[in-house]
Amino acid sequence: MFSELILLTALCTARFTAAGLTRYGSSGCRAEVYSSCTVPNTVAITFHDGPYIFSKDLVDIFNEMDAKATFFVNGANWKCIYNDDMVDTIRYAHDAGHLIGSHGWNHFNLSEQSAETINEQMEKLEVALERIIGVTPAWMRPPNGSYNDVVREVSTRRGQSIILWDFNANDAYGATPEEIKDAYHELAEQHPSTALTINLEVKESTVYDVIPYAIDQFKSKGYELVTVSECLGGFSDYQRVTTRSEKDDSWAC
Ligand SMILES: *[C@@H]1O[C@H](CO)[C@@H](O)[C@H](O)[C@H]1NC(C)=O
Ligand SMILES: *[C@@H]1O[C@H](CO)[C@@H](O)[C@H](O)[C@H]1NC(C)=O
Ligand SMILES: [Zn+2]
Repeated sequence: MFSELILLTALCTARFTAAGLTRYGSSGCRAEVYSSCTVPNTVAITFHDGPYIFSKDLVDIFNEMDAKATFFVNGANWKCIYNDDMVDTIRYAHDAGHLIGSHGWNHFNLSEQSAETINEQMEKLEVALERIIGVTPAWMRPPNGSYNDVVREVSTRRGQSIILWDFNANDAYGATPEEIKDAYHELAEQHPSTALTINLEVKESTVYDVIPYAIDQFKSKGYELVTVSECLGGFSDYQRVTTRSEKDDSWAC
């Protein structure tokens, strides 16, 4: 199956166009990589490594402040995605209109994996989101933003575009809440046309201290806080939308 990956690049465009997948962005076999929003006056605040114990509160904060978030979730990072509380949290965020994207199954460094493993990492997470919320993800954030051409090829195969960021809160790298808030303040003061920010969903101070402040800063400058699909304009949130399933014994990590 994966010998196809190293076959003719020229075939890819035709194949994926036929499959109706080019709208998610691909150049030949390699998935498009987006780092910035394009719709003026929009900001997309995104999270990775969830769901976690603060996630429902985080959703409430966005809801109360009339803002949308994008959550790139793992399958087996802190806990198994099929645990009742994880299922419940993902449904809670999705039902409130926030976007759920893929952060792969195990938070592996995808640049160091074979095509087979990358495919498996993406597919297992897709299956989980199809079961839990009835959607097939269209957006993939590789763990630590690490990707190469093989990651791009597998992403195209799976119909997903790669999405990075142009502002890192650096909460995964030890920045203090005060430092992060200063950085958000500075960013809002510079008033760029758009911003695409990355934040750690599993960090308590990010959820309760930094994010309400950041949303407020952007709102005070007149930005609309939207999902990555909206900030890029003309994209669907998901590849496919079907119906969610009831949990059974096959829901295991
Ligand atoms: C991921 O792997 C690549 C290739 O070995 C390496 O260059 C990169 O530093 C790694 N990233 C992380 C976050 O470990
Ligand atoms: C990769 O990201 C995780 C959080 O998602 C962070 O804890 C870790 O320090 C990062 N690793 C590297 C090498 O950047
Ligand atoms: Zn991560």
